[in-house]
Amino acid sequence: TASIDNLFKNHGKTFLGVATDEKYLTVQQNAAIAGQDFGAVTPENSMKWAAIEPSRGVFNFTGADYLVNWAVTNGKSIRGHNFVWGEYLPNWVLNITDAQTLIDVLQNHITQVLNRYQGLLYAFDVINEPLNQDGSLKSTHWTQVIGPDVFRIALEAARAADPSVKLYINDYTLDWNNTKVAGMVNLVNSLNPPGQPPLVDGIGSQAHLNAGEAPSVHGGLVALSEAGVDIAITELDIPGAEPSEYQTVVQACISVRPCVSLSVWGIRDPDSYRPTTNPLLFDESWQAKPAYNSIAGVL
Ligand code: XIL
Repeated sequence: TASIDNLFKNHGKTFLGVATDEKYLTVQQNAAIAGQDFGAVTPENSMKWAAIEPSRGVFNFTGADYLVNWAVTNGKSIRGHNFVWGEYLPNWVLNITDAQTLIDVLQNHITQVLNRYQGLLYAFDVINEPLNQDGSLKSTHWTQVIGPDVFRIALEAARAADPSVKLYINDYTLDWNNTKVAGMVNLVNSLNPPGQPPLVDGIGSQAHLNAGEAPSVHGGLVALSEAGVDIAITELDIPGAEPSEYQTVVQACISVRPCVSLSVWGIRDPDSYRPTTNPLLFDESWQAKPAYNSIAGVL
């Protein structure tokens, strides 16, 4: 039988992917599911700042290499994740208070990662979670020290390091038509001024949903389309969902043309980042859940 990834691709979409990492892929059942059912992987944690550059100029690519090698060997696309994020920063980065020093560190980090995986990454969440719920820019170490120019600086560094990677801004609660969605459209427009080569290729909507929210996702995607760039659902999980809610989200991506891809945030419920309420497509015994079958049904 066709995988949900193949079924999704039959609707003109790029892939239906999953977040994972070495600690999951070394368990044979996980690798089998990632291999059969999904068309792309996102490193759940292995490409985050603290994992890749735990101290200044000291790079540890062990986990990221594993994930990338697995993807290349198995013919999967890769969504890299992430560079500019206010969370999970090592103290050595938080201790830099000089703007030019932090810019140098950021540019070097981006360049090192993209050079190592040159030509292998489909997309990268260059910017993660930049916005408040009211659509204004969140105050983070990056914006406090460098200012809002940090986004342009990071995107330009990424574009220069590997022009083949689609550059994304990724955020949460873009799941209905709201002020944060409007803020995201404004942010993308400000980084993609008319008459210049765009810096932003896509918007990632994390879609860490709560039960009952799936029906509004379509309206959020339609509103995000105003930015004129690709859209990806990047981290889908729905704790306590009715199976049909997964179907609703997949259908929303299928029916909104700029929505190019959808990724779920983990394989098995007990390994989820929101583990308590069975938010994913496979249960603790690696069995496909009704939510999985609801997707296979709609596709
Ligand atoms: C989460 C991972 O799933 C956890 O394992 C980790 O402890 C914290 O980060 N938004 C994001 C992801 O962009 O990187 C986060 O991933 C979940 C929320």
